[in-house]
Amino acid sequence: MSSLLALIYLLASIGFIVGLKMLSRPDTARKGNWVAAAGMAAAIFGTIFLYSDAEVERLGNYGYIFVALIVGSVGGWWSAKRVKMTAMPELVSLFNGMGGACAALISGIEFNHLLHPMHATAPATSGQVLIIVLGLVIGTVSFVGSMVAWGKLNGRVKDFSFGGQLVVNLVLLACMLGLSVYFVMTAPGFLATANYATPILVFALVLSVAIAYGVLFVLPIGGADMPVVISLLNSFTGVAAACGGFLYSNKAMLTGGILVGAAGTLLTLLMCKAMNRSLANVLIGSFGGGSKTQGQGGQAITGSYKQISLSDAAVVLSYANKVFIVPGYGLAVAQAQHVCHELEKLLEEKGVEVKYAIHPVAGRMPGHMNVLLAESDVPYEKLLEMEQANDEFSTTDAVLILGANDVVNPAAKTDTTSPIYGMPILEVEKAKTVIVNKRSMKPGYAGIENQLFFQPKTSMLFGDGKKVLQDLVAEIKNL
Ligand code: TAP
Repeated sequence: MSSLLALIYLLASIGFIVGLKMLSRPDTARKGNWVAAAGMAAAIFGTIFLYSDAEVERLGNYGYIFVALIVGSVGGWWSAKRVKMTAMPELVSLFNGMGGACAALISGIEFNHLLHPMHATAPATSGQVLIIVLGLVIGTVSFVGSMVAWGKLNGRVKDFSFGGQLVVNLVLLACMLGLSVYFVMTAPGFLATANYATPILVFALVLSVAIAYGVLFVLPIGGADMPVVISLLNSFTGVAAACGGFLYSNKAMLTGGILVGAAGTLLTLLMCKAMNRSLANVLIGSFGGGSKTQGQGGQAITGSYKQISLSDAAVVLSYANKVFIVPGYGLAVAQAQHVCHELEKLLEEKGVEVKYAIHPVAGRMPGHMNVLLAESDVPYEKLLEMEQANDEFSTTDAVLILGANDVVNPAAKTDTTSPIYGMPILEVEKAKTVIVNKRSMKPGYAGIENQLFFQPKTSMLFGDGKKVLQDLVAEIKNL
């Protein structure tokens, strides 16, 4: 490898790390994406034009490479541009699946090279075979699992489980491990004696079991837990890509893979923490029937709720000193983020202090609300994390809840029978007044009623989020 290519890989790795760091703040995330993408472009073009080793002087096959690059870039760009915010987890899942498939294909190609060496190279080592089988197993599970997750999120694949599914999965996992160990222990010997039939058979068996495991592992997991599973599969893809980095001694691929693996693992654990669930509970909690969290349990709620008119809501908000806006999934569905920002600016012109309270799992994907509000240029400093917001609600005159439900449900603190019991929530009931905008009394994702809507200080403002906010802005302008 030339020293210029080594330098490019170093710069690419720095680009990945800096880009990832910038992704952690909404105001730098867009630039961070470009920095990481520039690093990836440098690594790809550096490899294509500068890679050489003892066997390969230059890569060649430029026609295939550039056609694939163009097809992939155009397809990725087009689908990312037209995707709706609410369908983003599906797209992430699809893209992640492609990464897993690439890692598995690399293993297939490198195994084929061991069967048909192009040059008189040293015999295959156990280390080489180990990396190949790891890439195959992890990449295949990630690809197949991501495709099932994608199908479940867009409704093409239904939740499916049967009695004993956990046992079947454990058996498949044991078979996958056993076959992989057998492959690593025996393949170098068989290949050295030109006995190709056995390693090919074992390779095919490992692939088949990994496909079956990928399907059965994701199929029974409930929709509400899908983002956690996607994040976990994403970390698998990172590890599978890192295996490719080992195979080719490619440091940029190794760094990129490890970063994706580590970031995916951390995100998975953080999401579980925000939902007050263990990873094991997410992964096996729903075996034997649907989502564990959706629509079961919880005390029945008696009492009545009251409604507030647009003009009264306009008065409450305009004459408050401090207002908190709590965005939720409904705001994304209504695509009301721009008019929400307009309302915030209007209230501030009237001397009201306006802040946003962001729950870590509001919406349907990590950072959903941050991304949504960043789209409408809401200043980042106005977004308060859950703990900070909870400290400030007691000094707040009015909380305006826009399409949020589960993340403000006090049952999470008070009702031990509730499926969301233990999940940290935004404690909006500490404020003087609470106004809730949604279309009906229907439950949110967890499928349970919300005690907050029946409390004396809460008023319901029914209607589609966008229409209600547009009317509210008009009312406030007329005050
Ligand atoms: P939800 O509890 O799902 O409630 C959203 C509410 O928005 C619904 O009750 C719905 O009521 C309302 N709504 C829908 N469309 C609307 C529209 N056009 N205008 C106004 N309101 C509308 O949302 P949340 O409070 O954001 O909680 C998120 C849930 O998803 C949690 O249970 C969380 O655990 C789960 N979850 C989140 C993630 C991540 S990473 N964010 C991952 C997995 C699961 P109506 O139908 O009556 O309008």
